[in-house]
Amino acid sequence: MSDSTPRQPAGVDLSQLRVQENVDLRHLNTFHVAAQARYLVRVAGTDHLREVLRWCREEGLPFLLIGQGSNVLFKQDYPGLVIELQLLGREVVADNTEWVDVRVAAGEPWHGFVQYALKQHWYGLENLSLIPGTVGAAPVQNIGAYGVELKDFFVELEALEVASGVVQRFSAADCAFGYRQSFFKQAGKDRFVIVAVTLRLRKQQRLVLDYPGLRAALAGVAPDQLTAQQVSAAVCQLRRSKLPDPGQLGNAGSFFWNPHVSANEFAALRQRFPALPGFPDGAGFKIPAAWLIEQAGWKGFREGDVGVHRDHALVLVNYGAATGAQLVALAERIQASVVERFAIPLWPEVRIV
Ligand code: FAD
Ligand code: EPU
Repeated sequence: MSDSTPRQPAGVDLSQLRVQENVDLRHLNTFHVAAQARYLVRVAGTDHLREVLRWCREEGLPFLLIGQGSNVLFKQDYPGLVIELQLLGREVVADNTEWVDVRVAAGEPWHGFVQYALKQHWYGLENLSLIPGTVGAAPVQNIGAYGVELKDFFVELEALEVASGVVQRFSAADCAFGYRQSFFKQAGKDRFVIVAVTLRLRKQQRLVLDYPGLRAALAGVAPDQLTAQQVSAAVCQLRRSKLPDPGQLGNAGSFFWNPHVSANEFAALRQRFPALPGFPDGAGFKIPAAWLIEQAGWKGFREGDVGVHRDHALVLVNYGAATGAQLVALAERIQASVVERFAIPLWPEVRIV
Protein backbone atom coordinates (compact mmCIF):
# COMPACT_ATOMS: atom_id res chain seq x y z
CA MET A 1 0.00 0.00 0.00
CA SER A 2 1.47 3.40 -0.95
CA ASP A 3 1.75 6.23 1.57
CA SER A 4 -0.89 8.27 -0.26
CA THR A 5 -3.54 5.55 0.11
CA PRO A 6 -6.00 6.64 2.81
CA ARG A 7 -6.32 4.41 5.83
CA GLN A 8 -9.43 2.30 6.10
CA PRO A 9 -11.70 4.05 8.57
CA ALA A 10 -11.54 2.08 11.79
CA GLY A 11 -14.73 1.35 13.70
CA VAL A 12 -16.92 3.87 11.85
CA ASP A 13 -20.32 2.81 10.57
CA LEU A 14 -20.30 4.37 7.11
CA SER A 15 -23.99 3.70 6.57
CA GLN A 16 -24.80 5.67 9.72
CA LEU A 17 -22.81 8.58 8.29
CA ARG A 18 -24.63 7.93 5.00
CA VAL A 19 -21.27 7.61 3.23
CA GLN A 20 -21.06 5.55 0.04
CA GLU A 21 -17.85 3.89 -1.13
CA ASN A 22 -16.24 3.86 -4.59
CA VAL A 23 -18.71 6.09 -6.39
CA ASP A 24 -18.57 7.05 -10.06
CA LEU A 25 -18.38 10.86 -10.35
CA ARG A 26 -19.41 11.11 -14.00
CA HIS A 27 -22.84 12.53 -13.09
CA LEU A 28 -21.22 14.96 -10.64
CA ASN A 29 -19.09 16.92 -13.10
CA THR A 30 -20.34 18.71 -16.19
CA PHE A 31 -17.30 17.54 -18.18
CA HIS A 32 -18.74 14.04 -17.55
CA VAL A 33 -15.27 12.56 -17.21
CA ALA A 34 -15.01 9.20 -15.49
CA ALA A 35 -13.45 9.32 -12.03
CA GLN A 36 -14.17 7.47 -8.82
CA ALA A 37 -14.54 8.97 -5.40
CA ARG A 38 -13.19 6.78 -2.60
CA TYR A 39 -16.18 8.05 -0.60
CA LEU A 40 -19.21 10.19 -1.37
CA VAL A 41 -21.82 11.70 0.92
CA ARG A 42 -24.92 13.80 0.20
CA VAL A 43 -25.42 16.36 2.93
CA ALA A 44 -28.72 18.15 3.51
CA GLY A 45 -28.16 19.57 7.02
CA THR A 46 -25.40 21.35 8.92
CA ASP A 47 -25.25 18.78 11.76
CA HIS A 48 -24.62 16.02 9.23
CA LEU A 49 -22.01 18.26 7.58
CA ARG A 50 -20.19 18.72 10.91
CA GLU A 51 -20.25 14.96 11.51
CA VAL A 52 -18.72 14.04 8.16
CA LEU A 53 -16.08 16.78 8.44
CA ARG A 54 -15.15 15.49 11.93
CA TRP A 55 -14.84 12.00 10.46
CA CYS A 56 -12.49 13.32 7.73
CA ARG A 57 -10.38 15.09 10.36
CA GLU A 58 -10.13 11.97 12.51
CA GLU A 59 -9.24 9.75 9.56
CA GLY A 60 -6.88 12.26 7.93
CA LEU A 61 -9.04 12.02 4.79
CA PRO A 62 -9.03 14.84 2.24
CA PHE A 63 -12.48 16.14 1.29
CA LEU A 64 -13.89 18.00 -1.69
CA LEU A 65 -17.06 20.07 -1.70
CA ILE A 66 -19.12 19.81 -4.79
CA GLY A 67 -22.28 21.61 -5.88
CA GLN A 68 -23.06 20.63 -9.48
CA GLY A 69 -19.45 20.11 -10.56
CA SER A 70 -19.74 22.74 -13.30
CA ASN A 71 -16.35 24.28 -12.55
CA VAL A 72 -14.24 21.23 -11.70
CA LEU A 73 -12.23 18.78 -13.78
CA PHE A 74 -11.23 15.43 -12.28
CA LYS A 75 -7.78 14.54 -13.58
CA GLN A 76 -7.78 11.29 -11.63
CA ASP A 77 -9.79 9.35 -9.07
CA TYR A 78 -10.44 11.25 -5.85
CA PRO A 79 -8.84 9.49 -2.85
CA GLY A 80 -10.97 11.15 -0.14
CA LEU A 81 -14.58 12.12 0.59
CA VAL A 82 -16.61 14.08 -1.96
CA ILE A 83 -19.31 16.07 -0.15
CA GLU A 84 -22.30 16.86 -2.34
CA LEU A 85 -24.08 19.80 -0.74
CA GLN A 86 -27.85 19.60 -0.90
CA LEU A 87 -28.83 22.24 1.69
CA LEU A 88 -32.10 23.69 0.43
CA GLY A 89 -34.44 26.59 1.24
CA ARG A 90 -34.81 30.35 0.92
CA GLU A 91 -36.32 33.00 3.17
CA VAL A 92 -36.85 36.75 3.15
CA VAL A 93 -34.83 38.18 6.03
CA ALA A 94 -35.45 41.91 5.41
CA ASP A 95 -37.90 43.80 3.27
CA ASN A 96 -38.82 47.42 2.51
CA THR A 97 -40.35 49.35 -0.37
CA GLU A 98 -37.07 49.44 -2.33
CA TRP A 99 -35.45 46.05 -1.82
CA VAL A 100 -35.64 42.62 -0.30
CA ASP A 101 -32.89 40.59 1.38
CA VAL A 102 -33.19 36.87 0.63
CA ARG A 103 -31.18 34.21 2.42
CA VAL A 104 -30.67 31.22 0.14
CA ALA A 105 -29.29 27.83 1.19
CA ALA A 106 -26.08 26.74 -0.53
CA GLY A 107 -27.50 23.72 -2.35
CA GLU A 108 -30.23 25.63 -4.22
CA PRO A 109 -29.64 25.61 -8.00
CA TRP A 110 -28.50 29.08 -9.09
CA HIS A 111 -30.67 29.45 -12.20
CA GLY A 112 -33.74 28.15 -10.35
CA PHE A 113 -33.27 30.91 -7.81
CA VAL A 114 -32.85 33.56 -10.54
CA GLN A 115 -36.15 32.47 -12.09
CA TYR A 116 -37.87 32.39 -8.71
CA ALA A 117 -36.64 35.93 -7.95
CA LEU A 118 -37.93 37.24 -11.29
CA LYS A 119 -41.35 35.69 -10.61
CA GLN A 120 -41.47 37.58 -7.30
CA HIS A 121 -40.57 40.82 -9.18
CA TRP A 122 -37.21 40.99 -7.41
CA TYR A 123 -34.69 42.38 -9.86
CA GLY A 124 -30.98 42.42 -10.54
CA LEU A 125 -30.01 38.82 -11.25
CA GLU A 126 -31.45 38.70 -14.79
CA ASN A 127 -28.03 39.04 -16.47
CA LEU A 128 -26.80 36.05 -14.44
CA SER A 129 -29.51 33.77 -15.86
CA LEU A 130 -28.63 30.22 -16.89
CA ILE A 131 -25.24 30.06 -15.14
CA PRO A 132 -24.98 26.43 -14.03
CA GLY A 133 -24.22 25.49 -10.44
CA THR A 134 -25.40 26.08 -6.92
CA VAL A 135 -25.95 29.23 -4.86
CA GLY A 136 -23.20 28.09 -2.43
CA ALA A 137 -20.57 27.95 -5.16
CA ALA A 138 -21.56 31.34 -6.63
CA PRO A 139 -19.44 33.42 -4.19
CA VAL A 140 -16.43 31.10 -4.56
CA GLN A 141 -15.56 32.64 -7.91
CA ASN A 142 -17.93 35.64 -7.70
CA ILE A 143 -19.85 34.41 -10.74
CA GLY A 144 -20.33 36.97 -13.46
CA ALA A 145 -21.86 37.42 -16.89
CA TYR A 146 -23.14 40.16 -19.19
CA GLY A 147 -21.77 43.04 -17.14
CA VAL A 148 -22.98 41.89 -13.71
CA GLU A 149 -21.31 39.97 -10.87
CA LEU A 150 -22.65 38.25 -7.78
CA LYS A 151 -20.90 40.84 -5.58
CA ASP A 152 -23.26 43.54 -6.92
CA PHE A 153 -26.13 41.94 -4.93
CA PHE A 154 -24.23 40.39 -2.07
CA VAL A 155 -25.10 41.18 1.57
CA GLU A 156 -23.36 38.40 3.51
CA LEU A 157 -22.79 34.69 3.65
CA GLU A 158 -22.62 32.07 6.35
CA ALA A 159 -19.82 29.52 6.23
CA LEU A 160 -18.98 26.64 8.49
CA GLU A 161 -15.36 26.59 9.54
CA VAL A 162 -14.03 23.09 8.93
CA ALA A 163 -11.57 23.12 11.86
CA SER A 164 -14.10 24.19 14.52
CA GLY A 165 -17.53 23.36 13.07
CA VAL A 166 -18.60 26.93 13.92
CA VAL A 167 -20.71 28.92 11.43
CA GLN A 168 -19.25 32.38 10.77
CA ARG A 169 -20.66 35.38 8.91
CA PHE A 170 -18.69 36.98 6.06
CA SER A 171 -19.34 40.49 4.71
CA ALA A 172 -18.50 41.47 1.12
CA ALA A 173 -15.19 42.92 2.37
CA ASP A 174 -14.36 39.63 4.16
CA CYS A 175 -15.02 37.75 0.91
CA ALA A 176 -12.46 39.89 -1.02
CA PHE A 177 -14.37 39.53 -4.28
CA GLY A 178 -12.60 40.17 -7.56
CA TYR A 179 -12.93 39.03 -11.16
CA ARG A 180 -13.66 35.27 -10.79
CA GLN A 181 -11.97 35.51 -7.40
CA SER A 182 -12.68 35.48 -3.66
CA PHE A 183 -11.23 34.63 -0.25
CA PHE A 184 -12.75 31.15 -0.71
CA LYS A 185 -10.52 30.46 -3.71
CA GLN A 186 -7.45 31.81 -1.89
CA ALA A 187 -6.67 31.72 1.85
CA GLY A 188 -10.12 30.28 2.68
CA LYS A 189 -9.93 27.42 0.17
CA ASP A 190 -11.12 24.15 1.74
CA ARG A 191 -11.24 25.83 5.19
CA PHE A 192 -14.89 26.88 5.02
CA VAL A 193 -18.12 25.43 3.69
CA ILE A 194 -20.54 28.10 2.51
CA VAL A 195 -23.96 27.09 3.86
CA ALA A 196 -26.11 30.13 2.93
CA VAL A 197 -25.86 33.37 0.96
CA THR A 198 -27.95 36.52 1.48
CA LEU A 199 -28.60 38.70 -1.57
CA ARG A 200 -30.26 42.14 -1.79
CA LEU A 201 -32.60 42.38 -4.78
CA ARG A 202 -34.38 45.49 -6.01
CA LYS A 203 -38.11 45.98 -6.28
CA GLN A 204 -37.67 48.41 -9.19
CA GLN A 205 -35.83 47.14 -12.22
CA ARG A 206 -32.58 48.85 -13.22
CA LEU A 207 -31.43 47.07 -16.35
CA VAL A 208 -27.75 46.64 -17.24
CA LEU A 209 -27.47 46.43 -21.01
CA ASP A 210 -23.88 47.51 -21.67
CA TYR A 211 -22.45 44.12 -22.62
CA PRO A 212 -21.69 43.90 -26.35
CA GLY A 213 -24.37 41.80 -27.98
CA LEU A 214 -26.99 42.09 -25.25
CA ARG A 215 -28.41 45.44 -26.32
CA ALA A 216 -28.28 44.28 -29.95
CA ALA A 217 -30.23 41.13 -29.02
CA LEU A 218 -32.93 43.37 -27.53
CA ALA A 219 -32.91 45.98 -30.30
CA GLY A 220 -36.49 45.14 -31.33
CA VAL A 221 -37.94 46.48 -28.05
CA ALA A 222 -38.04 50.18 -27.08
CA PRO A 223 -35.66 50.68 -24.11
CA ASP A 224 -38.43 52.07 -21.84
CA GLN A 225 -40.61 49.02 -22.58
CA LEU A 226 -37.97 46.44 -21.70
CA THR A 227 -38.56 44.13 -18.75
CA ALA A 228 -36.09 42.17 -16.64
CA GLN A 229 -37.84 38.99 -17.83
CA GLN A 230 -37.04 39.95 -21.44
CA VAL A 231 -33.41 40.59 -20.50
CA SER A 232 -33.26 37.20 -18.79
CA ALA A 233 -34.74 35.51 -21.89
CA ALA A 234 -32.24 37.33 -24.16
CA VAL A 235 -29.31 36.32 -21.93
CA CYS A 236 -30.51 32.68 -22.01
CA GLN A 237 -30.79 32.81 -25.80
CA LEU A 238 -27.33 34.39 -26.21
CA ARG A 239 -25.79 31.82 -23.90
CA ARG A 240 -27.47 28.92 -25.72
CA SER A 241 -26.20 30.25 -29.06
CA LYS A 242 -22.57 30.36 -27.88
CA LEU A 243 -22.06 27.80 -25.14
CA PRO A 244 -22.67 24.07 -25.42
CA ASP A 245 -25.28 22.57 -23.08
CA PRO A 246 -23.34 20.35 -20.64
CA GLY A 247 -26.30 17.94 -20.78
CA GLN A 248 -25.46 17.33 -24.45
CA LEU A 249 -21.69 17.90 -24.55
CA GLY A 250 -19.36 17.75 -21.55
CA ASN A 251 -17.78 21.13 -20.70
CA ALA A 252 -17.25 23.56 -17.83
CA GLY A 253 -17.89 26.88 -19.58
CA SER A 254 -14.82 29.10 -19.94
CA PHE A 255 -11.78 26.97 -19.24
CA PHE A 256 -9.42 29.94 -18.67
CA TRP A 257 -9.76 33.41 -17.16
CA ASN A 258 -9.61 36.38 -19.49
CA PRO A 259 -6.11 37.81 -18.96
CA HIS A 260 -5.56 41.33 -17.67
CA VAL A 261 -2.70 43.44 -19.07
CA SER A 262 -1.48 46.95 -18.26
CA ALA A 263 -2.35 49.85 -20.59
CA ASN A 264 1.26 49.91 -21.86
CA GLU A 265 1.30 46.18 -22.55
CA PHE A 266 -2.02 46.50 -24.36
CA ALA A 267 -0.71 49.34 -26.55
CA ALA A 268 2.38 47.29 -27.44
CA LEU A 269 0.28 44.21 -28.26
CA ARG A 270 -2.06 46.30 -30.42
CA GLN A 271 0.89 47.49 -32.47
CA ARG A 272 1.75 43.88 -33.27
CA PHE A 273 -1.83 42.62 -33.50
CA PRO A 274 -4.06 45.52 -34.62
CA ALA A 275 -7.27 43.41 -34.41
CA LEU A 276 -6.66 42.45 -30.76
CA PRO A 277 -9.85 43.17 -28.78
CA GLY A 278 -9.57 44.63 -25.28
CA PHE A 279 -11.94 46.00 -22.68
CA PRO A 280 -10.84 48.76 -20.26
CA ASP A 281 -10.66 47.24 -16.79
CA GLY A 282 -9.27 49.21 -13.87
CA ALA A 283 -5.79 50.43 -14.71
CA GLY A 284 -5.44 48.17 -17.76
CA PHE A 285 -7.35 46.02 -20.22
CA LYS A 286 -9.02 42.65 -20.18
CA ILE A 287 -8.30 40.61 -23.29
CA PRO A 288 -10.70 37.86 -24.39
CA ALA A 289 -8.82 34.58 -23.99
CA ALA A 290 -11.17 33.16 -26.66
CA TRP A 291 -9.66 35.52 -29.25
CA LEU A 292 -6.09 34.51 -28.36
CA ILE A 293 -6.99 30.81 -28.54
CA GLU A 294 -8.86 31.21 -31.82
CA GLN A 295 -5.94 33.15 -33.37
CA ALA A 296 -3.60 30.38 -32.22
CA GLY A 297 -5.67 28.05 -34.41
CA TRP A 298 -7.49 25.96 -31.79
CA LYS A 299 -11.14 26.79 -32.41
CA GLY A 300 -12.96 23.64 -33.54
CA PHE A 301 -9.89 21.46 -32.89
CA ARG A 302 -10.65 17.83 -32.08
CA GLU A 303 -8.39 14.92 -31.25
CA GLY A 304 -10.11 11.72 -30.16
CA ASP A 305 -12.74 12.79 -27.67
CA VAL A 306 -11.17 16.06 -26.52
CA GLY A 307 -11.63 19.32 -28.33
CA VAL A 308 -12.20 23.06 -28.42
CA HIS A 309 -15.80 23.97 -29.13
CA ARG A 310 -16.50 25.04 -32.72
CA ASP A 311 -18.63 28.02 -31.61
CA HIS A 312 -16.49 29.23 -28.69
CA ALA A 313 -12.73 28.92 -28.44
CA LEU A 314 -12.68 29.28 -24.62
CA VAL A 315 -14.72 26.13 -24.08
CA LEU A 316 -12.93 22.78 -23.93
CA VAL A 317 -15.23 19.84 -24.56
CA ASN A 318 -15.49 16.12 -23.93
CA TYR A 319 -17.05 14.45 -26.99
CA GLY A 320 -17.68 11.25 -25.05
CA ALA A 321 -14.97 9.22 -23.42
CA ALA A 322 -12.26 11.86 -22.85
CA THR A 323 -10.36 11.58 -19.60
CA GLY A 324 -9.56 14.46 -17.30
CA ALA A 325 -5.86 13.91 -17.98
CA GLN A 326 -6.45 14.26 -21.75
CA LEU A 327 -8.36 17.51 -21.22
CA VAL A 328 -5.59 18.86 -18.97
CA ALA A 329 -3.00 17.89 -21.63
CA LEU A 330 -5.00 19.80 -24.27
CA ALA A 331 -5.29 22.83 -21.95
CA GLU A 332 -1.51 22.79 -21.50
CA ARG A 333 -0.91 22.68 -25.25
CA ILE A 334 -3.23 25.66 -25.68
CA GLN A 335 -1.47 27.60 -22.91
CA ALA A 336 1.94 26.90 -24.49
CA SER A 337 0.85 28.00 -27.96
CA VAL A 338 -0.77 31.23 -26.69
CA VAL A 339 2.40 32.08 -24.75
CA GLU A 340 4.51 31.35 -27.83
CA ARG A 341 2.39 33.56 -30.09
CA PHE A 342 1.37 36.40 -27.75
CA ALA A 343 3.60 35.99 -24.65
CA ILE A 344 0.41 36.02 -22.53
CA PRO A 345 -0.08 33.30 -19.91
CA LEU A 346 -3.57 31.83 -19.52
CA TRP A 347 -4.76 30.56 -16.12
CA PRO A 348 -7.45 27.92 -15.69
CA GLU A 349 -10.72 29.11 -14.20
CA VAL A 350 -11.75 25.48 -13.73
CA ARG A 351 -10.55 23.74 -10.55
CA ILE A 352 -8.42 20.77 -11.57
CA VAL A 353 -8.64 18.00 -8.96
P1 FAD B 1 -18.65 23.18 -8.33
O1 FAD B 1 -18.11 23.10 -9.72
O2 FAD B 1 -19.24 21.97 -7.74
O3 FAD B 1 -17.51 23.76 -7.37
C1 FAD B 1 -16.71 24.84 -7.77
C2 FAD B 1 -15.73 25.19 -6.64
O4 FAD B 1 -16.43 25.69 -5.52
C3 FAD B 1 -14.96 23.98 -6.11
O5 FAD B 1 -13.69 24.43 -5.70
C4 FAD B 1 -15.77 23.55 -4.90
O6 FAD B 1 -15.00 22.83 -3.95
C5 FAD B 1 -16.23 24.89 -4.36
N1 FAD B 1 -17.51 24.85 -3.66
C6 FAD B 1 -18.69 24.41 -4.15
N2 FAD B 1 -19.67 24.60 -3.25
C7 FAD B 1 -19.09 25.17 -2.17
C8 FAD B 1 -19.57 25.62 -0.90
N3 FAD B 1 -20.87 25.51 -0.57
N4 FAD B 1 -18.70 26.15 -0.01
C9 FAD B 1 -17.38 26.29 -0.34
N5 FAD B 1 -16.87 25.88 -1.51
C10 FAD B 1 -17.71 25.33 -2.43
N6 FAD B 1 -19.26 30.91 -14.31
C11 FAD B 1 -19.40 32.25 -14.33
O7 FAD B 1 -18.93 32.94 -13.41
N7 FAD B 1 -20.04 32.89 -15.35
C12 FAD B 1 -20.58 32.21 -16.39
O8 FAD B 1 -21.15 32.82 -17.29
C13 FAD B 1 -20.45 30.80 -16.40
N8 FAD B 1 -20.95 30.08 -17.43
C14 FAD B 1 -20.83 28.72 -17.43
C15 FAD B 1 -21.39 28.00 -18.50
C16 FAD B 1 -21.31 26.63 -18.53
C17 FAD B 1 -21.93 25.88 -19.68
C18 FAD B 1 -20.69 25.93 -17.47
C19 FAD B 1 -20.64 24.43 -17.47
C20 FAD B 1 -20.11 26.63 -16.41
C21 FAD B 1 -20.18 28.04 -16.38
N9 FAD B 1 -19.62 28.80 -15.34
C22 FAD B 1 -19.77 30.17 -15.31
C23 FAD B 1 -18.88 28.14 -14.23
C24 FAD B 1 -19.82 27.60 -13.13
O9 FAD B 1 -21.16 27.62 -13.55
C25 FAD B 1 -19.69 28.43 -11.84
O10 FAD B 1 -18.37 28.43 -11.38
C26 FAD B 1 -20.60 27.87 -10.73
O11 FAD B 1 -20.66 28.79 -9.66
C27 FAD B 1 -20.13 26.52 -10.19
O12 FAD B 1 -21.15 26.00 -9.35
P2 FAD B 1 -21.12 24.47 -8.92
O13 FAD B 1 -22.19 24.29 -7.89
O14 FAD B 1 -21.22 23.59 -10.10
O15 FAD B 1 -19.69 24.38 -8.24
N1 EPU C 1 -14.20 35.55 -29.14
C1 EPU C 1 -13.39 35.03 -30.13
N2 EPU C 1 -13.60 33.72 -30.50
C2 EPU C 1 -14.58 32.96 -29.95
C3 EPU C 1 -15.41 33.52 -28.96
C4 EPU C 1 -15.20 34.83 -28.57
O1 EPU C 1 -12.50 35.69 -30.65
O2 EPU C 1 -14.70 31.79 -30.34
C5 EPU C 1 -13.93 36.95 -28.70
C6 EPU C 1 -14.80 38.00 -29.36
O3 EPU C 1 -13.99 39.14 -29.56
C7 EPU C 1 -15.83 38.32 -28.28
C8 EPU C 1 -15.01 38.14 -27.01
O4 EPU C 1 -14.14 37.03 -27.30
O5 EPU C 1 -16.32 39.63 -28.38
C9 EPU C 1 -15.82 37.85 -25.77
O6 EPU C 1 -16.60 36.66 -25.96
P1 EPU C 1 -17.88 36.36 -25.06
O7 EPU C 1 -18.81 37.52 -25.09
O8 EPU C 1 -18.41 35.05 -25.45
O9 EPU C 1 -17.30 36.32 -23.59
P2 EPU C 1 -16.02 35.63 -22.94
O10 EPU C 1 -15.06 36.70 -22.56
O11 EPU C 1 -15.50 34.51 -23.77
C10 EPU C 1 -16.92 35.84 -20.52
C11 EPU C 1 -16.99 34.93 -19.33
C12 EPU C 1 -18.19 34.02 -19.44
C13 EPU C 1 -19.45 34.86 -19.50
C14 EPU C 1 -19.36 35.79 -20.71
C15 EPU C 1 -20.51 36.77 -20.75
C16 EPU C 1 -14.71 34.62 -18.52
C17 EPU C 1 -13.54 33.72 -18.43
N3 EPU C 1 -15.76 34.15 -19.22
O12 EPU C 1 -16.68 35.01 -21.64
O13 EPU C 1 -18.24 33.19 -18.29
O14 EPU C 1 -20.60 34.06 -19.59
O15 EPU C 1 -18.14 36.58 -20.63
O16 EPU C 1 -20.35 37.73 -19.77
O17 EPU C 1 -14.71 35.72 -17.97
C18 EPU C 1 -17.48 31.12 -17.39
O18 EPU C 1 -16.91 31.78 -16.52
O19 EPU C 1 -17.47 29.87 -17.41
C19 EPU C 1 -18.21 31.81 -18.45
C20 EPU C 1 -18.83 31.17 -19.44
